[in-house]
Amino acid sequence: MADAEGNKIAKEYHLDTPVAANGFYVKGMNHTGWGMKNRFSKLFNPKTGNTVMLAFDHGYIMGATAGLERLDLAIDPLVEQVDVLMGTRGALRSCINPITNKGICLRATHDSSVLFDDMSTGVGFGLDMEDALRMNADCIAMQCFVGGAGEARSLEVLCRAVDAGEKYGVPVMAVTAVGKEMARTNQYFMLATRMLAELGAHTIKTYYCEGFEKIVAACPVPIVIAGGKKVPELDALEMAYRGISDGARGVDMGRNIFQSESPIGMATAIGKIVHEQYTAKEAYELFLDIKNSVSKD
Ligand code: 5RP
Repeated sequence: MADAEGNKIAKEYHLDTPVAANGFYVKGMNHTGWGMKNRFSKLFNPKTGNTVMLAFDHGYIMGATAGLERLDLAIDPLVEQVDVLMGTRGALRSCINPITNKGICLRATHDSSVLFDDMSTGVGFGLDMEDALRMNADCIAMQCFVGGAGEARSLEVLCRAVDAGEKYGVPVMAVTAVGKEMARTNQYFMLATRMLAELGAHTIKTYYCEGFEKIVAACPVPIVIAGGKKVPELDALEMAYRGISDGARGVDMGRNIFQSESPIGMATAIGKIVHEQYTAKEAYELFLDIKNSVSKD
């Protein structure tokens, strides 16, 4: 070999510095592979362990949604304020600038439209994991209908997604879907979150409820809280604050951001709660400042 002689001698073995144990900062993910951990580092900020996900996948069941009529105009101004963009592949491909360095959470189920009373009846795996890799997804999101008529099909679809996620190193986020007929009780969310984690989901999105800290404690993987229907900004910030205080590792929020009077103000305020321990009141004051400064411009 041409360079076998004359090379510097290797001698810096740092014998007094122990090799780092490489414990991974995301709950329950220490035994996953490097690729999955790398994708997790795009989802959950390695400095805080938390995430702000911006959900704009509503069109896949709701069609044009208030605030998202023009995806190309609605999302771009918010990208800098969040950690992760959660959308369908159709929305991402057509309307989101691919130079973004944000994490990508790809909506991967198709479900029945809002025209159906029980959305669980239409659930299926809506893409091939190879296409998720082509999209450079850091995560895929599966709507899961525990307790719905389509429960068995939904859980089967989740399990096959987890198989594909394990094969390619892509985290699977299970979303606890609450149909019109299901009660949003802590018993329900305790059951659903734990079931979905035990079926292999790598992270869970669910609704905040009373007793949330117990749900977090019993769930072996990180939980992010769902936003839900638009409520007054202070209420949404209080929910985010309580969720983070009770152990959620982030917020995946859509309508309470993009339907706000100041979407940038809301995205920024949520980020302060999630990453900088702001109280809901402090975050609300910041929201008002941003809203008022933009309306004066
Ligand atoms: C429902 C979903 C939705 O697709 C969406 O992400 C909801 O966002 P929000 O309720 O915050 O508007 O995941 O479970």
